[in-house]
Amino acid sequence: AEAPLKILYKDAFHIGAAVNPITIESQRSLLAYHFNSLTAENEMKFSSVHPQEELYTFENADVIAAFAREHGLALRGHTLVWHNQTPDWLFENETGGLVERGVLLERLKAHIQTVVSRYKDVIYAWDVVNEVISDDADDQNAYLRPSKWLDIAGENFIAKAFEFAHEADPQALLFYNDYNESDPHKRERIFRLVRSLLDQDVPIHGVGLQAHWNLYDPSLDDMRAAIERYAQLGLQLQLTELDVSVFRFEDRRTDLVQPSQEMLELQAERYESIFRLLHEYKEHISAVTFWGAADDYTWLDNFPVRDRKNWPFLFDESHRPKEAYQRVARIV
Ligand code: XIL
Repeated sequence: AEAPLKILYKDAFHIGAAVNPITIESQRSLLAYHFNSLTAENEMKFSSVHPQEELYTFENADVIAAFAREHGLALRGHTLVWHNQTPDWLFENETGGLVERGVLLERLKAHIQTVVSRYKDVIYAWDVVNEVISDDADDQNAYLRPSKWLDIAGENFIAKAFEFAHEADPQALLFYNDYNESDPHKRERIFRLVRSLLDQDVPIHGVGLQAHWNLYDPSLDDMRAAIERYAQLGLQLQLTELDVSVFRFEDRRTDLVQPSQEMLELQAERYESIFRLLHEYKEHISAVTFWGAADDYTWLDNFPVRDRKNWPFLFDESHRPKEAYQRVARIV
């Protein structure tokens, strides 16, 4: 059998995978063999665990936590504050208008206390705040993404979330997580946010680079520049949601039932250069988590285009190592 990725990279960083209650069954042996870290793909998000103010639903999240405990895997928590997969009740008062700032922060505190405390024994790192930086490419002054969080509470909800998480579990490593993290404009906005949190003595310990990449974008130079820039913050870095789509983002084609040889070859080269780069920065990078594990299941099958099958991982639909795996394995 092929060498486990987690062993090959044990002196560099954790090798993680996002899982859900279905893949944790169907990919069980692959997960236990190659990976030493997990993230819940959806099951710990606000809507999943706290759909109503008085109702917490932990069944699915508990399944993932139990699997991590059972196999001695590291577990990352994902995510406490986001603009997606967050229930409306959180922002509403009794008459359906927006709540007051103080009420929103009280609710956030209660949520974080409950969720973070529950998994204190097994979760070592939390994506506390996800995707609050603007993607606006035209407006040079753009900074934070418009959201109900921002409308109601102002910028301060970000610092508060980190403080509440730190109170709930002082041992946990707390991350800011975002995508398009290698884009030069967004990179500087993310840098500015994290720097300002550090200047305010907010407990934050890492920057998560989602790394939803493809065969062509971003460039290796932009990836390197992003790693170098974030490293200047003096925090640890993690790739939190790595996948290498065989399509360009805007490619609409939905007809392919298997990847072409050319795609697989390009993907192998691409993964090799990515892992060479990551390995070069292993002093700064503590974990590399894929947003899935093998090509039989990826969220990219439905994003950004529905029914566009994708093959973004190192393992194929039958969990066999792809050429990309071979290239990643022989670097170390
Ligand atoms: C995605 C999940 O993979 C999908 O199943 C869900 O429908 C939408 O969310 N950035 C994140 C992740 O931080 O939480 C997202 O996960 C992918 C983009």
